[in-house]
Amino acid sequence: MSSHDRGHVKRVVRLVRYIAEREGADVEVVVTAAELHDIARGEPDHARRSAEKAREILRRKGYAEEFVERVAHCIEAHSFSSRVEPRTPEASILSDADKLDAMGAIGIARAFLYSGERGRSVEETLRHFEDKLLKLYDALRTKTGRELGRERHQFLVEFYQRLEAELWGINRST
Ligand code: NI
Repeated sequence: MSSHDRGHVKRVVRLVRYIAEREGADVEVVVTAAELHDIARGEPDHARRSAEKAREILRRKGYAEEFVERVAHCIEAHSFSSRVEPRTPEASILSDADKLDAMGAIGIARAFLYSGERGRSVEETLRHFEDKLLKLYDALRTKTGRELGRERHQFLVEFYQRLEAELWGINRST
């Protein structure tokens, strides 16, 4: 699936590293979690399933159980769908990074890619902005995440307003 591809994982890894360094969080825990966070993408309840798979992989590699559980918690709490609240700074950071990659220009590009994969129209994608993308800024949990999210959110709003104007009217100013 190209909207949830290797590029997404790379960007999330870059974001968590940046945020963790600024927030004084455990970089190794959150980078490991970012690398494995979507490993069960496409399965129902992918956050929980990805956490289970990550536990198996990390145990097999011989990581200490405490480290494994800290990573697994980040993964199971990264998505709204699991209904697991982030309890650690690292879990909040992964949640923020995954949301930041659904915001700004990259978020718009991914939303339309995702729609294309499912045969959804431009109008239907605009509803996805209202239902999800425009709400992401308020869900950001860390100070650094909110700083990074501010201009991404503003860009989403501007794009949304322009698209709506061009769809239902003529131009934004008319
Ligand atoms: Ni993700």
